Amino acid sequence: MNDAGVPELSQAAWTAVGLSRPHESADLHVRGQATYTDDIAQVQGTLHAALGLSTKAHARITAIDLTAVRASRGVVAVFTAADIPGLNDCGPIIHDDPILADGLVQYVGQPVFIVVADTHDNARRAARLAQVSYEELPAILTPQAARAAQSYVLPPMRLARGDSQAAFERAPHRVKGELHVGGQEQFYLEGQIAYAIPGEDRGMLVYCSTQHPSEMQHVVAHALGLHSHHVVVECRRMGGGFGGKESQSALWAASAAIAAARLKRPVKLRADRDDDMLVTGKRHCFHYEYEVGYDDEGRIVAAKVDMVSRAGFSADLSGPVATRAVCHFDNAYYLSDVEILAACGKTNTQSNTAFRGFGGPQGAIAIEYVIDEIARNLGRDSLDIRRLNFYGRQERNVTPYGQEVVDNVIHELVAQLEASSEYRARRQAIEDFNRTSPVLKKGLALTPVKFGIAFNVTHLNQAGALVHVYVDGSIIVNHGGTEMGQGLNTKVMQVVAHELGVDIARVRATATNTGKVANTSATAASTGADLNGKAAQDAARQIRERLAQFAAAQYGGQAHEVSFAADTVFVGGHEIAFAQLVAKAYLARVQLWSDGYYATPGLSWDPKSMTGRPFSYFAYGAAVSEVVVDTLTGEWKLLRADALYDAGNSLNPAIDIGQVEGAFIQGMGWLTTEQLWWNPAGKLMTHAPSTYKIPTVSDCPEDFRVRLFDNRNVEDSIHRSKAVGEPPLLLPFSVFFAIRDAISSVGDHRVNPPLNAPATCEEIVNSIAAVRAACARTA
Ligand code: MTE
Ligand code: MOS
Repeated sequence: MNDAGVPELSQAAWTAVGLSRPHESADLHVRGQATYTDDIAQVQGTLHAALGLSTKAHARITAIDLTAVRASRGVVAVFTAADIPGLNDCGPIIHDDPILADGLVQYVGQPVFIVVADTHDNARRAARLAQVSYEELPAILTPQAARAAQSYVLPPMRLARGDSQAAFERAPHRVKGELHVGGQEQFYLEGQIAYAIPGEDRGMLVYCSTQHPSEMQHVVAHALGLHSHHVVVECRRMGGGFGGKESQSALWAASAAIAAARLKRPVKLRADRDDDMLVTGKRHCFHYEYEVGYDDEGRIVAAKVDMVSRAGFSADLSGPVATRAVCHFDNAYYLSDVEILAACGKTNTQSNTAFRGFGGPQGAIAIEYVIDEIARNLGRDSLDIRRLNFYGRQERNVTPYGQEVVDNVIHELVAQLEASSEYRARRQAIEDFNRTSPVLKKGLALTPVKFGIAFNVTHLNQAGALVHVYVDGSIIVNHGGTEMGQGLNTKVMQVVAHELGVDIARVRATATNTGKVANTSATAASTGADLNGKAAQDAARQIRERLAQFAAAQYGGQAHEVSFAADTVFVGGHEIAFAQLVAKAYLARVQLWSDGYYATPGLSWDPKSMTGRPFSYFAYGAAVSEVVVDTLTGEWKLLRADALYDAGNSLNPAIDIGQVEGAFIQGMGWLTTEQLWWNPAGKLMTHAPSTYKIPTVSDCPEDFRVRLFDNRNVEDSIHRSKAVGEPPLLLPFSVFFAIRDAISSVGDHRVNPPLNAPATCEEIVNSIAAVRAACARTA
């Protein structure tokens, strides 16, 4: 940079990636000028829909009387399953997910009918007036009950390596136990919403807050009995998705489109928060039974886990979520002889779905829980036991599913964090503090993360993009990914700017639209920038190559010697402004726009044996958390958190650090305060922020030190960066285990505190009581 902050005119020094750049919409966000789906200017004649919901967890509908709904003020129409022109299904993989309940309701909150009125309020008011008669059926509400009844949404999975039975027999020590880890509401700030506008010749345009426009296009086409080419789905941005808008935006898109098609009028369906939480699925809660054998040093020699999740009433993404849980049970640890079982319990609750980490966090927390116990049993610092079990570099480096870990940096990363966080000194200080503090107890934990990047399902790892260079030298990039606040557009714009040697201000990203890039994958599995960044780079590179050829022909020299930097093109000793070259190229009839495509190489996955190379690479990280717990009330505070995350050669350090911070706090909420509670009749009672506690700014640690680990992806990812969206959600395991450490100090670290997640104040108090009781028994 020169004094004016303008990059020097030299290609070698030029870069638009690797720089901290503000989010492309930051200005609009803070000024309230960013257009979300509900802000799109309404077409004349727009109507508003609301959903009528089941009040029973499992029942046959014997009669529906909608007279009062129809008679309610402003109501234009009411639609039930029988009114759906095409398929009554919005399941992403297995077709067991009715848009509207047809004779059978399977959870409290399941949509039974759509009411359309002149205003949003009138539609909502009317939705409550239905008289539905039910014949109740027995309901299954918990994963354990589902397992007892062998009630699953798909066949259980098993991944095994080695001979865990023989290894168990040889093992000098064993831990065995159970753990329950709760689910989590996505709590995107912008709720589910779709706005459907019918067009000519059966066409349907749907604006939808969704991570997966192509899936919405399919579902809407099927529901309306149309082809994909009749339906256009567009999403400029979401006010958060967090996985909750990967498949579950479909219900809203389809319902709005059904009403719009039937009425031939635009229909908007915007869920209010309570309905959103009652209707849509969340992170799967998991129940685990584990048994692990280890030697005198604390090295794991045999491991077995049997997990069952709460899938809800339909399959949705429960299968892939369980697969990711299976593939992350190892976390950063080498497990030689291991058996991993996973089942998706069919329950009469919301159909659970994607949520940041997608089962990965649920898989990994189980092994962390076990390692924590091994350390306590051996009277060792848990960091030492963790380190002892880390994947090796040359040996002990093959995952249970058969992928070789070739990019392992966990040893260096953890060593760096151990030093920078002053882990050992603080461990000592905490011991000293606890000795003299009878009520307040401190705890400390360091936990690692290794997270596989790519969709397990190989074919999803593809992406497309379009880059248009206009005659004035301004540029538009459009790609298949969606913006949910994570900064994907910013990163893709940086990639395009870098490729064409222009300032990022020249580049604009436009709304994701199924009419532009076709057959896109969900923006999920943290692959947004990996896939769409590469596709956009491919498009931009083609334009640059054409421009280079043109420039060389005009000004002399070789095309491959033409360079693009700082909005300037360097060719045969000349310097031409980028916009000037573009204008000339247009007149010479050079194609100034291009598509781009990318498919991640080297992936394979066999779902039967659960083996292959499902991941392109691994992202690593670790965090240290220090908490203080009030042992009388169970209240606690996170005093300090240090997080170190491997974003590879970060495309945008500011955005990546923001992702780590956000994921950390979100994961902390999952493991501590966010409790979902269904009453015995199966109604989710925690369906609003009044009863469901997500972390607030005051829950963030005052001392929060988030850094990126200096690394370079060994894989040829986009500019050697690594994904950042989900893996940091596992970093606050350290908060959970710091709380467990503080609790365990009550019993002088002699007993393993039973602690399920979320570690609410109540759970903490109960755990302390259990520790005291166990100590009293052994005293
Ligand atoms: N960050 C914000 N601000 N909002 C979100 O909804 N979703 C997370 C993560 N970070 C999310 C977010 C989830 S679940 C995923 S999979 C990734 O972003 C998706 O985007 P990416 O692949 O571009 O990282
Ligand atoms: Mo993220 S859970 O893969 O949408």
